[in-house]
Amino acid sequence: MRILGIETSCDETAAAVVEDGRKLLSNAVASSVDLHAAYGGVVPEIAARSHIESILPVIQESLNTAKTDWDAIDAIGVTYGPGLGGSLLIGVLTARTLAIAKNKPLYAVNHVEAHVYANFITEVDSSQKTEDSRKTQSTVYSLPSTPPHFPALALIVSGGHTQLVLFKNHFDYQVLGQTGDDAVGEAFDKVAKILGLPYPGGPSVSRAAEQGDPTAVKLPKSKLDNPYDFSFSGLKTAVLRAAQAYAGKDFTFPSTELPGALTDSQKADLAASFQATAIATLTDGLQMAIKAYKPKSVVIAGGVAANQALRQAASKLTLAPIYTDIKLCTDNAAMIAAQAYYQASHKRPQADPYSLTIEPGLQM
Ligand code: KG4
Ligand code: ZN
Repeated sequence: MRILGIETSCDETAAAVVEDGRKLLSNAVASSVDLHAAYGGVVPEIAARSHIESILPVIQESLNTAKTDWDAIDAIGVTYGPGLGGSLLIGVLTARTLAIAKNKPLYAVNHVEAHVYANFITEVDSSQKTEDSRKTQSTVYSLPSTPPHFPALALIVSGGHTQLVLFKNHFDYQVLGQTGDDAVGEAFDKVAKILGLPYPGGPSVSRAAEQGDPTAVKLPKSKLDNPYDFSFSGLKTAVLRAAQAYAGKDFTFPSTELPGALTDSQKADLAASFQATAIATLTDGLQMAIKAYKPKSVVIAGGVAANQALRQAASKLTLAPIYTDIKLCTDNAAMIAAQAYYQASHKRPQADPYSLTIEPGLQM
């Protein structure tokens, strides 16, 4: 069964073809990240306009790369939430139109759930080739050798979400805990701003951290009533206070001028100390849940799963986690197609192409 996945929840316009939920035939992504960099964060209007320009060429590219025409597509899966309203609308309206025009079943996919399903992709079609060199598509993927086994414990860490979820089976899961304030990726992005590091913050904080001492600054780990819940906003504020102390300025000093008052080595130490504390917060919760729920597999999913220091720390857990390739950790449509496949194969209800609406605040 070949499924075309469509993803437009944030600033990546993505389309992919996946066979039987596990074999990647194509994975096309056009990002508008460069357009947002000047503003230090995603500008929703710019993201939506850029989806309008990119969506049809990206879908065509994904079909070309997969050497698949419409006759060979069995269904369409599309992200309907959570995400930015204007961005979600472009993907959903495109998927609805194609489902009607090409007469294909349509499946509505929860973006956060789909991040976990990226780990069910275990094969790449070796004949896959890049159609358009302007797009950041590479045919080399480092994928898990086997899909997760149930019960599977998933740590979902992205720009918008930080959740610990126990999957007893497909469509049968329990959210054990989540962040009550900032998501961990959001904390990376905000710390990058405090330190004057370029957007997107996650990769630039982790790059700066490589030159720093993770024990240089003592930062607080949050303690919450539910041991599986997270909080990152206090940590981000502690980084701000430590940066002000390094610079010898108090909190009235304009935060936009703070990076100029810090040396590169102070920035590296702050980045390393922040990253180490954020990672320890995540792995502490994960280790406790492994002990309590005894899963058969542990999965770390979402953009922050691209972080090498997190992967290294998590390899020391009593059950080593499964990750997928970095290209499938950050937003992509292959994960959408993989999740839609399990909906189709489990005879879950199809979405109505005449009425499917977006749900920007969709929860797991
Ligand atoms: O899953 P994702 O691509 O989009 C959302 O669904 O939010 O995650 C994006 C987040 C951003 O906050 C970004 O800073 C973070 O993932 N991220 C990283 C790294 N790469 C991306 N955070 C830490 N280290 C990285 N290497
Ligand atoms: Zn995401």
